[in-house]
Amino acid sequence: LASQANLMRPPRRPHFARAENIAHRAGSGQAPENTIVACARAGAAGADLCEFDVQQTKDQQLVLIHDETLARTTNVEQVFPNRRPWRVSDFTLAEIRRLDAGSWFSPRYRGTRVPTLGQALELLDKGGAGLLLEVKHSPRSPGIDRRVAAELLENKDLWQGRRLALQAFDWQAMRTLHRMVPDVPILLLGVNGKRLSEVGDYASALVLPQARLTERQVREVKAHGLRVYTGPTDRPRALRRLLSYGVDGIMTGVPARLRNVLRE
Ligand code: G3P
Ligand code: CA
Repeated sequence: LASQANLMRPPRRPHFARAENIAHRAGSGQAPENTIVACARAGAAGADLCEFDVQQTKDQQLVLIHDETLARTTNVEQVFPNRRPWRVSDFTLAEIRRLDAGSWFSPRYRGTRVPTLGQALELLDKGGAGLLLEVKHSPRSPGIDRRVAAELLENKDLWQGRRLALQAFDWQAMRTLHRMVPDVPILLLGVNGKRLSEVGDYASALVLPQARLTERQVREVKAHGLRVYTGPTDRPRALRRLLSYGVDGIMTGVPARLRNVLRE
């Protein structure tokens, strides 16, 4: 009878080491992506960090938005019908601040604005989740690294002692950015064939795509003294698989779901 009772018992849950819960695009599954309200909600739902995408406007201001154009996540087509293809880099900050970046997601977010990097830093200072800033490099935004570095250095009081990191697909650019803001950890996105022993002097982690990630790959990267982040995914099965590999953090659009999996 005793052994039968054991068979009826649910299998032991795996014990996951604490991994960082990162709200991808500030939590794109639960609120309009890359907005301050999304990040505030993500923090309340257990996110350790909000991941934001940083781009540069026509007047060289830094705004948080993912796509190269404003069309998908704002009402730019209604407000500026003749400015096709509505590239972020063709609009001034004042123009972008007129746009509604919430209604496309749900009418309850009407009036939400495209945030600036400065606003995200202010939220961090007020005790919100940490920040993982992805610099979106493009030939249309020359000098973006210099401006990101300048804004971080000017506002050091807002983030010092708080969790702040930078990431990008352009490893060479991140090497340079590290020299400009040596106190800010650098994460490298993707795999680019470079020897991992060469990146440890400027980067602290790799961010590897989750779909084909293997436990062996995680071990190999960690053997080089680098941390391993992955994502994005919202699926509980995938979250459990990635955690079982011992990753240091996962990007997800629904941080509450990852929080629940981490509690199992
Ligand atoms: O996987 C990390 C992620 O931030 C890069 O993708 O397109 O959401 O910026 P994307
Ligand atoms: Ca991103």
